[in-house]
Amino acid sequence: MLEATPGLCLSGVCTVKGPSMAKRSVTDIDPKGKRVLCRVDFNVPLDDDRNITDDSRIQAALPTINFLLEKGGKVILISHLGRPKGEKKPEFNLDPVAKRLAELVDAKVTKTDDVVGPEVTNVVGAMQPGEIVLLENSRFEPGEEKNDPALGEALGELADIYVNDAFGAAHRAHASTEGVTKHVDTCVAGFLMQKELEILGDALLEEPKRPVVAILGGAKVADKLGVIESLLKVADTLIIGGGMSYTFLKAKGYEVGQSLLDADRIEYCSGIILKAEETGTKLLLPTDVLIADDFKADANTKVVPADQIPADWMGLDMGPESTRVFCEAAASAGTAFWNGPMGVFEMEAFAGGTKALAKALAESDAVTIIGGGDSAAAVRQMGFADAMTHISTGGGASLEFVEQGSLPCVEVLDEK
Ligand code: 3PG
Repeated sequence: MLEATPGLCLSGVCTVKGPSMAKRSVTDIDPKGKRVLCRVDFNVPLDDDRNITDDSRIQAALPTINFLLEKGGKVILISHLGRPKGEKKPEFNLDPVAKRLAELVDAKVTKTDDVVGPEVTNVVGAMQPGEIVLLENSRFEPGEEKNDPALGEALGELADIYVNDAFGAAHRAHASTEGVTKHVDTCVAGFLMQKELEILGDALLEEPKRPVVAILGGAKVADKLGVIESLLKVADTLIIGGGMSYTFLKAKGYEVGQSLLDADRIEYCSGIILKAEETGTKLLLPTDVLIADDFKADANTKVVPADQIPADWMGLDMGPESTRVFCEAAASAGTAFWNGPMGVFEMEAFAGGTKALAKALAESDAVTIIGGGDSAAAVRQMGFADAMTHISTGGGASLEFVEQGSLPCVEVLDEK
């Protein structure tokens, strides 16, 4: 379980009292006998039979849940799952989550069929300290994503204290993450939220161990616009690999054949190349690539210099020279932040660059921060998860945090 002493660094890597220390947390409240509404992110992946294929997000919320239970709180959990768009769709209900949660905690777990309303009021009214009630999928309510004040108020009426431990959803100002805070007097961060803020805020943005090496990959430049600029300010070295690197190569005047190209962003990438020179940030782009004649696992492949991709071929992974250079930079980092795979790692033939980078980070002495999403999945799939300092539970949220330095649902929590 995470250390619960107030003011103590949860991750063991932060050196400053940055964003994580600015907000009140569960250690600043007395939940005994109180109804504690705890927003968690149980948006877990499910297979076709609705079995949970990765329960890390449930596991990650356990320190907060157990702490509140041990302190005698009545723990009301609320989460979204998928995108049912305000409709009560059975394929998005939280039944599989309730089942898994009941296996993981030593407490009675009752799941409601609604998010708010008479059934919920009755069930919550009958709760005893040390019990859990899991509300149904918050996105079954049309008011959730609209941040409808009436839903925020109805949720607020269920609680004496509000705890936000849903870092993965903290970039969404919804009724259960933002609106509700206007209707509860005490609103604090959970341990997971605190740890994410501590790592991404304190240990990456505020006072990182240098050199800072930021590695960005994945498909689209457009998804990472603000993040690239924010990282240019904090990183000593910025590595751009994966699908998004072809737009940068194009910006350098190279032909990229059939590789992924964000044509609208070529000029932006030229600007970033110039900005990196101005800020003195070392920008590493691929110098060689593994290309294929089709987007298929059994396509013909070859390695070519990055400026020699034939017109009818496409880059699907980094070449060996680029991989070596990227890995050396990652290995010598004081702090490494990674978001986005280096190639189409879902196909073994094009997983080499991503795998090598994950291994280099796992073996390095750096504070290694994996920014959720596909890179988190890759690290787990490749067996390197335990060797990383932190794998963020938020894909979109971690990028937005790095870009903005805060998130809308963090802003509304009580200040210390
Ligand atoms: C996530 O999976 O990143 C979070 O749970 C947020 O989900 P959303 O992108 O559907 O809002």
